[in-house]
Amino acid sequence: MRHICEVIMAAGIVLAGSTGGAGEKGNAVKTFTLKNANKIVARIMTRGATLTELIVPDKNGKPANIVLGFDDLAGYASKDNQYFGCTVGRVANRIAGASFELDGKTYILAKNDGENHLHGGVKNSLDKVVWKAKPFNKENESGVIFTYTSPDGEEGYPGKLDVTVTYTLNDKNELKIDFEAKTDKATPVNLTNHSYFNLAGAGADTIYDHEVMINADKYTPSGKGLIPTGKIEPVKGTPVDFTKPALIGDRIDQLIKTVTIGYDHNFVLRSQDGSLALAAQVRHKPSGRILTVHTTEPAIQLYTGNFLNGQKGKDGKTYKPRSALCLETQHFPDAVHHPNFPSIILQPGKTYRHTCVYSFSTESEKESPKR
Ligand code: GAL
Repeated sequence: MRHICEVIMAAGIVLAGSTGGAGEKGNAVKTFTLKNANKIVARIMTRGATLTELIVPDKNGKPANIVLGFDDLAGYASKDNQYFGCTVGRVANRIAGASFELDGKTYILAKNDGENHLHGGVKNSLDKVVWKAKPFNKENESGVIFTYTSPDGEEGYPGKLDVTVTYTLNDKNELKIDFEAKTDKATPVNLTNHSYFNLAGAGADTIYDHEVMINADKYTPSGKGLIPTGKIEPVKGTPVDFTKPALIGDRIDQLIKTVTIGYDHNFVLRSQDGSLALAAQVRHKPSGRILTVHTTEPAIQLYTGNFLNGQKGKDGKTYKPRSALCLETQHFPDAVHHPNFPSIILQPGKTYRHTCVYSFSTESEKESPKR
């Protein structure tokens, strides 16, 4: 028996040799490094239980970091940070009018996206707080268990919420993210990971040459403020039909004059039974890198970094609009206002569970996704 992966606790996310910084609440921020037998390296920090770096070899074995991030905590705390790599919650995506009703009570949330609420709030949303962390090492895999207790009323949400996010990297080249939550009062919960991928390497100009397949026949179109209309429509015959693999660059410009500007759509996955099923696959022919996404969730948001604005990221790289894509496994946006969408209300005594697996292969391996 050998430990294939090692976990190194580094002192902060700043450049090697420095002593690290503090989170918004003054807690020291730690970064953990997971390595597998095939030269994949994942770095995850306690601020926001955030994936800060993901190094994956290409078809020739040449490594590159394929997720957007910053070199230091100042970058993560700045307005340039558009949820890079973090855990999003309590409710990912938008809540119309920044309020909702539950059991006869109205809850008011922060309006941080025009008139609407986005990604859990402003100060103590799950992406900004510092989580507790416990690394583990098993045969053929290693990981970190992050925990955070969100007090009753935090960011306007009811109930004390105990959240666990576990990252595991194994030698099958899978980075697995397991989300769990328990509450003491009924409350909405919709967690996701917000990594921005560019399979050519973070900082490459666009993701037009990324070929995407999404295992979904339907999507939830949105209107003003990117709020879902409540309809569930077929993708067939639209630029969001990814049932057959298609290059992002082929049809993205057809969306410029729509509310989403580019791809920023919630897809209703074929699998709705909560089992771990194929959600999406992204192939980047030039590097040979392939990203496959499996999830237990009923939906996935494809977002092509339309709001990236040329901010400076890790290693001096510039992140232009459409230079990365997110594949966020989740429930439907604004589910609290749409009784026809699967409910996101977690009841006391129940456990919220969500698994997202990002797996990596290269073209030369000719791997086909698990179904
Ligand atoms: C995405 C969302 C986008 C944008 C982005 C953060 O999840 O779909 O509309 O808000 O987060 O900049």
